[in-house]
Amino acid sequence: MPTSPEFLTARLRLNRLLPADATALYDYRSDANVARYQGWWPTDLAQAEAFIATQAAQVFGSPESWCQLAIRDRDSSELIGDIGIHFPGTTDDAIEFGVTLHPDRQGRGYAREALDRAIDLAFREWGYRRAVGSVDPRNAASMALLRSLGFRQEAHHVASYRFRGEWVDDVIFAMLATEWQGG
Ligand SMILES: CC(C)(COP(=O)(O)OP(=O)(O)OC[C@H]1O[C@@H](n2cnc3c(N)ncnc32)[C@H](O)[C@@H]1OP(=O)(O)O)[C@@H](O)C(=O)NCCC(=O)NCCS
Repeated sequence: MPTSPEFLTARLRLNRLLPADATALYDYRSDANVARYQGWWPTDLAQAEAFIATQAAQVFGSPESWCQLAIRDRDSSELIGDIGIHFPGTTDDAIEFGVTLHPDRQGRGYAREALDRAIDLAFREWGYRRAVGSVDPRNAASMALLRSLGFRQEAHHVASYRFRGEWVDDVIFAMLATEWQGG
């Protein structure tokens, strides 16, 4: 199970969101293109502040929690995105990931770098057996991201849930620890 919420990659630093991140978080999370397929988006700064406060109150890695970690530039610590990790009840159950980047930081491999690290921790340090991602099939960048890391498409649920007034599809990607070749 996780111990510390602070991880480094070659270019990135993943750690807790801080109150000082609220403006930057609101800025990219409220962007229409970023929010299009997201279940949560702030409509004002106060919602971003409340989100960070809720996250701060959580114990990182506690069973049945969604932890949203900051993705920062490793050197400057500037917030460039976030990674959501759903910790299931036990390590036998699937751990789930979702990544969001500031529009100006997309297309440079940062999402792949952050997710690669998180998956590696999940399988090799935290002991999870299976990882999953759930994506709207219109979200091409997210589909490509998961495929590039070795996730396998296991399901395509058609018009399976109601999202912002319309019935939308949900594609499930998965990978087993025994299949992981990244890190
Ligand atoms: C999903 C999302 C995080 C993917 O971001 P991304 O920038 O496309 O992904 P990466 O950071 O891995 O970048 C990959 C691209 O950078 C390019 N790239 C540039 N430099 C690179 C480098 N040093 N290393 C790797 N890739 C690099 C890759 O070639 C790739 O380009 P391509 O897509 O044209 O092949 C982003 O689209 C996003 O934030 N979307 C909105 C939020 C969202 O919907 N999230 C998913 C919720 S389920």
